Amino acid sequence: AGGGDAARQADIGVIGGSGFYSFLDDVTEITVDTPYGPPSDTLLLGDIAGRRVAFVPRHGRGHHLPPHRINYRANLWALRSLGVRQVLGPCAVGGLRSEYGPGTLLVPDQLVDRTKGRPQSFFDGEPRADGTQPNVVHVSFADPYCPAGRAAALAAARGQDWDAVDGGTMCVIEGPRFSTRAESRWHAAQGWSVVGMTGHPEAILARELELCYTSLALVTDLDAGAEVGEGVSHAEVMEVFAANVGRLREVLFDVVGRLPKDRDCTCGTALLGQDPGIALP
Ligand code: ADE
Repeated sequence: AGGGDAARQADIGVIGGSGFYSFLDDVTEITVDTPYGPPSDTLLLGDIAGRRVAFVPRHGRGHHLPPHRINYRANLWALRSLGVRQVLGPCAVGGLRSEYGPGTLLVPDQLVDRTKGRPQSFFDGEPRADGTQPNVVHVSFADPYCPAGRAAALAAARGQDWDAVDGGTMCVIEGPRFSTRAESRWHAAQGWSVVGMTGHPEAILARELELCYTSLALVTDLDAGAEVGEGVSHAEVMEVFAANVGRLREVLFDVVGRLPKDRDCTCGTALLGQDPGIALP
């Protein structure tokens, strides 16, 4: 896996939001295609702490892809085809508890999928664009995030004096609209911590490709049900994200340096004993 061309090789993938286009210095820009169609944009490759990192702008450069139109399968497949085995997924979220206000960084350990109709498997039995037909597999998803990646993310945040929240449940809604007050109150009453629109199916698709996946959720607003006052606006989300993107970038650089070179988590054997019918890239 990963191909022989050094210019098209990476170990770590970062799927980032707006404000991260200048994530890497000295980049090589490459176009990658996949049997599931093209990823959100061209990929940018660069070096951090002796590791080769590939960056994908989740919404495309210029933020033209809404959460429900992102080709999550293509983004993950493209990363794996370069040799990537560890993925970091920073994203903007709303806080569901008053103590998780704007500027909070949370490294979730659970998620609840409230998306609708997004393809969430590579192995859906349907013939792909290249004509091959995958089998059906069922992967374990009890713990959706990589424990080693979570530990690295928390250590990196603390190293930058950002007291990140260790664990919590990210509720992923379909969007692109924000939640009603009733939906939001319901999400909060379930004990869920934050709400976003892109954390899923990114997490499950990473698991299906036996990739380590770590979510870094930056709270940009208090969601309607947690808030006293007005609901959230897109402008508020973008503003708070922009105000925190610098330190989030520092944390991500630091996480890259802390990710283990040899994986000993179970992420890399998610398909053990099952036959996907197609070769992973
Ligand atoms: N992303 C950022 N803030 C959000 C919110 N309140 N709801 C859903 N996704 C978000």
